[in-house]
Amino acid sequence: MAERLSPDVYSEVLIDHFQNPRNAGVMEDADAEAYVTNPVCGDSLRIFLKFEDGFIARASFLSSGCPASIATSSAATELVVGRTPEDAATLSRDDYADAVGGLPRAKVHCSVLAASAVSQAVEQWRAKTAS
Ligand code: FES
Repeated sequence: MAERLSPDVYSEVLIDHFQNPRNAGVMEDADAEAYVTNPVCGDSLRIFLKFEDGFIARASFLSSGCPASIATSSAATELVVGRTPEDAATLSRDDYADAVGGLPRAKVHCSVLAASAVSQAVEQWRAKTAS
């Protein structure tokens, strides 16, 4: 059954990200990508990052998940652009939750997918570029 997107439960920002996801889709020329799943609910996220001159230039995502995970993934693709890999890796699940106007208590864990995926993609980039 589809989850109800009540404004009493979710912020307007979250609902907008869920209904109009930013940067959704595969990035064919990505420099790094990561795939993460939530072992409890089975929701998943694949994130793609493109780097230029030491900064994240573009980000995109594919998600199969709840509204909160899709919205925080969408917000993540905006939040990480313009940051260095080091800076992006320091973003926490709270930062992603804040980016969608906060999450209801029962959905706080949903922002872990975005935080984990960004961290793993940055790690992949660091490993590729380490000399
Ligand atoms: Fe699975 Fe939200 S319920 S990530």
